[in-house]
Amino acid sequence: MSEIADAPAPTGPLSRIDYSERIPNNVNLAQDRRLQRALESWQPKFLDWWTTLGPSIPTQDVYLRTAIAVGRDGWAHFDRVPMEQYRWGIFLAEQDPDRQIAFGAHKGEKAWQEVPGEYRADLRRLIVIQGDTEPASVEQQRHLGRTAPSLYDMRNLFQVNVEEGRHLWAMVYLLHAYFGRDGREEAEELLRRNSGDYDSPRILGAFNEETTDWLSFFMFTYFTDRDGKYQLGTLKESAFDPLSRTCQFMLKEEAHHMFVGTTGVQRTVQRTAELMKQHDTDDIWEYGGIPLGVIQKYLNFQYAVSLDLFGAETSSNAAAYFTGGLKGRWMETRRKDDHVLSGLTTEVPVVDEGRLGTRTVPLLTALNLDLRNEYAADCATGVKRWNTELEKAGVDARLYLPHEGFNRRVGAFSGHTIAPDGMFVESVEDFLPSADDRARVAELMVPHYDTGDFAGWIAPPPFGINDLPVEFDYVRF
Ligand SMILES: [Fe+2]
Ligand SMILES: [Fe+2]
Repeated sequence: MSEIADAPAPTGPLSRIDYSERIPNNVNLAQDRRLQRALESWQPKFLDWWTTLGPSIPTQDVYLRTAIAVGRDGWAHFDRVPMEQYRWGIFLAEQDPDRQIAFGAHKGEKAWQEVPGEYRADLRRLIVIQGDTEPASVEQQRHLGRTAPSLYDMRNLFQVNVEEGRHLWAMVYLLHAYFGRDGREEAEELLRRNSGDYDSPRILGAFNEETTDWLSFFMFTYFTDRDGKYQLGTLKESAFDPLSRTCQFMLKEEAHHMFVGTTGVQRTVQRTAELMKQHDTDDIWEYGGIPLGVIQKYLNFQYAVSLDLFGAETSSNAAAYFTGGLKGRWMETRRKDDHVLSGLTTEVPVVDEGRLGTRTVPLLTALNLDLRNEYAADCATGVKRWNTELEKAGVDARLYLPHEGFNRRVGAFSGHTIAPDGMFVESVEDFLPSADDRARVAELMVPHYDTGDFAGWIAPPPFGINDLPVEFDYVRF
């Protein structure tokens, strides 16, 4: 299988975004003085937030990718950038003037350039929920730079962080530009809520969990950023065209976040498999590796909290969002049905008297499950890839995705204790990282900041960023 490529190198002449503007953008901000002033007054609050809750380790500069145009040639421009000078801006994919709504009650009508009054509250809510996740992950990951296994990994962490910051900008732009005063208030709230804060936590559960160490960071970028990919995929279908175009552009950047997760876990498993083989034991702590059983428990945890992000299996809101044209399905236009879905039914899981079963519901109400199933299938591909590392090393054990009912807090399985194999058990504790597991992983998290140096618990990557060597000073202090 070929490696997942990093962002393509820019080629040809670049159609540059105007970086002399205080807020770089391709939405003609200078033409709308009111909006420009509103966003310029939000900007220092964002920078304050970045300074207080962004990466906590001081650096001189980082080899980062910055979008300088939205087209193929400019969205992945690499340079050494002092992080606080990263140019967060507003970039929407190009507008297709003929775009039509692909689904729901308004199917075939022209896509909306303004927010229809009847959908205003729902659209605002969808944008706020999406927007809330972006800064949350930066907060969750803020101390990880202090224990990076290499400069290469540290650079990837910061790349993810600055782009999540930009995704917040994208949602704040929509709130300011299309939702008037309530939108501006919501934009302030996005900086006021904080991950794990007792009084004003982030909206969704997974974004209040601590990202304790680099293994949990890699699991997060694999499983939770992938949830982001699927949510953005549904919003990309939205009848509200500015939202659709925003999400199209964000999806390009998300691909790198998942690359960090896929390869990060893969490199960890590779080292684990090598140590298992070499010492002929599962217990590789003393050789400086993370035992496979512990990797599985981290995987179990992150998968379950990420499944919760899809919401309950049945939801009348999901039906209303679809019918209204606010949120489509994954790959909506490639689906071979009428894209209206009225009168159709599907099966959803239920737990009935301690047994797993299903019941039939209108398909429209089961769209959260539809998306979750697409996501689960995608998650399985990475696990396969990780298992090839075990196979290559001649280790028999394998990683797997736990049952969808394992350790759930949302939907049909919540309140039930279901083991990763789908059997009912007294407790699921044994399948989740224990305090001791986390402490022992934490002991391995010793910073490696010399050029080309890597921590012993993880294998170096096969190639560097943007065709540079693996041993390159991606971060300078
Ligand atoms: Fe994001
Ligand atoms: Fe992301």
